[in-house]
Amino acid sequence: MAEKILIIGAGGQIGTELVLKLREMKGKENVVAADIRDNCPDVISNGPYVKMDVMDRDFVRKFIIDNEIKQVYLLAALLSATAEKNPDFAWKLNMEGLFTILDLAKEKHLNKIFWPSSIAVFGPTTPKENTPQRTVMEPSTVYGISKQAGERWCEYYFNKFGVDVRSIRYPGLISYTSLPGGGTTDYAVDIFYQAKLSNSYTSFLSENTALPMMYMEDAIRATIELMEAPVEQVRVRSSYNLGGISFTPKELAEAIRVESPGFTIDYAPDFRQQIADSWPGSIDDSDAKNDWGWKEEFDLAKLVKIMLENVDTALIQG
Ligand code: SER
Repeated sequence: MAEKILIIGAGGQIGTELVLKLREMKGKENVVAADIRDNCPDVISNGPYVKMDVMDRDFVRKFIIDNEIKQVYLLAALLSATAEKNPDFAWKLNMEGLFTILDLAKEKHLNKIFWPSSIAVFGPTTPKENTPQRTVMEPSTVYGISKQAGERWCEYYFNKFGVDVRSIRYPGLISYTSLPGGGTTDYAVDIFYQAKLSNSYTSFLSENTALPMMYMEDAIRATIELMEAPVEQVRVRSSYNLGGISFTPKELAEAIRVESPGFTIDYAPDFRQQIADSWPGSIDDSDAKNDWGWKEEFDLAKLVKIMLENVDTALIQG
């Protein structure tokens, strides 16, 4: 029998696609979606849903124990830009839920945990290009600090209590099923909606700001491949670097222009520029490649084509 899986933060950008994919693989009834919203988002209404506040430790514990959940994907978090506006809450949200889940695994209620980290764990003093798995990490954002602390705790629970926790430092994620919520890399999603609406875009990052990005299908596949990898192959228990594709707003605009002639872009950097400037431009993911065979499939041209074909502008207008 398949182990029961709970995805917390199931209504978010990663959550929706992960729920759909895991239900396809494991059976709908085995994948429970949980989110703070009262009602289940339509896209994931094809299976079980529970309204859950990840900071309600008692409720989360009881639900997981009573329902014999064996694996948790903990995706509820405030992203980088939103976290800067509400640091206290971001720290609380990003850390408390993690301890609740790590403790359940320590007590053997859970067999496996997935917890997402981010390129935000790096900071201005980190080598910017081809950033190694192990390097200087002095994050300068609330979000980055919470992710770095979380990574340390994950590794600690693995070493000390044998908790099977697995993690990826996601680059900026690009998808069309649901919108990203408050990140610095969101421009690379917004741009496609505006390309469709007006064939033009005003970028909140400057033209030469290179950041690592990834098409969601690759990110979901990476997540599932890591979670299904034999335990001895998972040698990094903080979080794995994942490279993806590095590009600047200018390069993205050029790629869009190939599909959508006449597309124009201008630049009005805001507070998110400083966050982007503190992050790597490209990532070395050789540990993921060597340990569990990671390989990405989507390049920039392919990603742009799919996004332009599939973004539904009703999502940003509704
Ligand atoms: N995409 C995220 C953000 O911009 C980084 O993990 O906040």
